[in-house]
Amino acid sequence: MSTRPSGPAPATPGPGKVTLPDLVDLKRRGQPIVMVTAYDYPSGVVANQAGVDVVLVGDSAAMTVLGHDSTVPATMEEMLLLTRAATRGATHPLVVADLPFLSYQLSDRDAILNAGRFVKEAGADAVKMEGAGQTLERIRAVTASGMPVMGHLGLTPQSATALGGFKAQGRSTETALGLLRDARAVEAAGAFALVLECVPAPVAARITERLSIPVIGIGAGVGCDGQVLVYHDLLGLGTGRAPRFVKQYTNLHDQAVTAVTAYSREVRERHFPAAEHTYAIAEDELDAFEEALAPANPVIE
Ligand code: KIV
Repeated sequence: MSTRPSGPAPATPGPGKVTLPDLVDLKRRGQPIVMVTAYDYPSGVVANQAGVDVVLVGDSAAMTVLGHDSTVPATMEEMLLLTRAATRGATHPLVVADLPFLSYQLSDRDAILNAGRFVKEAGADAVKMEGAGQTLERIRAVTASGMPVMGHLGLTPQSATALGGFKAQGRSTETALGLLRDARAVEAAGAFALVLECVPAPVAARITERLSIPVIGIGAGVGCDGQVLVYHDLLGLGTGRAPRFVKQYTNLHDQAVTAVTAYSREVRERHFPAAEHTYAIAEDELDAFEEALAPANPVIE
C-alpha cells in the first residue's frame, strides 16, 4: 500500500522522514509548514497520505478521543498508546508527542524519563512541553539528553484555568512583550520549534520574525511559519462548538451519523446483509449438511 499522496507534492519531498533541518529550511524558504494532530493508526495514515510535514500526538486527545472536558486528565499510558498507534501510520511526517500534564513539571528527571518513553517505546521523534518559567529548565534538560523539544506558548491548555479559561493571550502591550520574551527564552533553551496558540495575528507575526526556529500557529494568523489544526476539528468529528480559529473542511460526524442510521435501518428491515455480503456453499455440501441436521439422523445430537 502506498503511503504517499497522489495529489500535489508535499513541501518536504522524498520518501524519507521529515527532519528538523527540513523544517528550518522551510522557514528559511518562506514555505508554510503543515502540522496536524493524529491519535491513532488511521489518522496517522491520513496525515501521511496527505503529505503533512509534522504530526502532533496532542494531549487534546483527552478531549477529542477520550471525552474529557480538558487536556489535564491525559495520562502517560494513554498518550503512549495513542503515540504508538499514530507512529505506525505516520511514517513520513516528523512525529511530536505531547508530554501530558504532570509528566514533566516536577523535575528534570521526570521530564527526561517520560520524554524518553515516547521516543524509545512509542517511536516519537520529539516531544512538546507547554509554557516558559520552570519549563525552560526542562527543555534544556531534555534537549541535553538528545531529544528534540517543541515549545508551546500563548494559550497553554494544561494551565487554562490559571490563564482564566480558554481565551486569547497577548492582547495587551505588556502581555505581548511577555510572550516575545518567553518565546526567545524557549528558543534559547534549545527548542527546535514553537507552537503559538490563540495569539493576535500581528503579535504572532512579530514574534515569528524575531525567532530563528519555526513558529507553528493555531489561532495565531497567517504570519506564522506554519499552521496546526486538531484532526477532529478540521474533519468536523467533534460534537461541541469549535473555537473561532477552526476551519472545518468537512463534517464527518454528520456523515457518520447518517451512515450508522442507514445501517441500523437496513439491519432492522433485513436489507443488510444482501447476497453480495455473504459467502456461498456448494449445493451438494449444503444438501449433505441439511441431511445431517435431519431429526432422523443422530450424527449431530
Ligand atoms: O494537544 C494539542 O492538540 C495541541 C495543539 C492544539 C497545538 O497542543
